[in-house]
Amino acid sequence: MKDAAPIDPNAHPPQSRGTATVQPGPYRPLPDVASLRAAVRGDWNVHGRRVEPAFVAMATFRFGQWAISRQRRWARTLANKFYGLLNFFVTPWTRVFMPPQTRIGKDFHIIHCEGSISIHPGAVIGDRLGVMHNVTIGTNMGPEAPVIGDDVFIGVNSCVLGGIRIGNRVRIGANTAVTTDVPDDCIAVGSPARIVRRLGPLSRGA
Ligand SMILES: CC(C)(COP(=O)(O)OP(=O)(O)OC[C@H]1O[C@@H](n2cnc3c(N)ncnc32)[C@H](O)[C@@H]1OP(=O)(O)O)[C@@H](O)C(=O)NCCC(=O)NCCS
Repeated sequence: MKDAAPIDPNAHPPQSRGTATVQPGPYRPLPDVASLRAAVRGDWNVHGRRVEPAFVAMATFRFGQWAISRQRRWARTLANKFYGLLNFFVTPWTRVFMPPQTRIGKDFHIIHCEGSISIHPGAVIGDRLGVMHNVTIGTNMGPEAPVIGDDVFIGVNSCVLGGIRIGNRVRIGANTAVTTDVPDDCIAVGSPARIVRRLGPLSRGA
């Protein structure tokens, strides 16, 4: 079992994430127990307040985020060892591959945890992403990874590949392969993806 290594700040150049900007520097997404508890509570609510694979995958991921956030080396090593042990059982069961280095906002929703989900460690994902089963975000062919905004939906059997930017409130259809940027408020479908429609005022909260 391998420790999740502390983040190299240079591996994460500043990236835009919705309205927020991710700053370079040591990545400590969940610096204390209160933030871990709040993140897990959000995942619990989003997943119907049930102990089901999607929630277990998210809780394990949040624990991994908390583990890499430990400032003291011994605490980080210990927490990472426990995370590694947990993950050894959880990943093959849930088939959700989501390294703790991945930057994921709150309320990530695994809508159907009955296929596999793979996310690149360098991906940056905003709040309230909803994913169906068999979704891949990023490739293993290089360090570039997608930046995804807030309130995005990704349909079943879809891939978001490369160092591209998906805007806020985007819907990606089933069986779609996205390899280019998608602006805010759009629907992208097909392989390679094409933008079929810009969403109307409802998506802007009107
Ligand atoms: C992308 C999606 C959200 C769009 O829904 P919508 O806003 O109702 O859009 P429409 O159904 O009006 O489709 C708009 C156009 O895109 C096409 N389209 C929609 N989804 C498509 C897809 N996945 N692949 C290819 N084309 C698609 C439609 O045929 C239509 O084309 P047309 O304008 O030439 O007739 C929806 O089609 C979709 O794919 N949802 C994923 C659902 C999913 O993953 N379900 C899993 C259940 S287990």
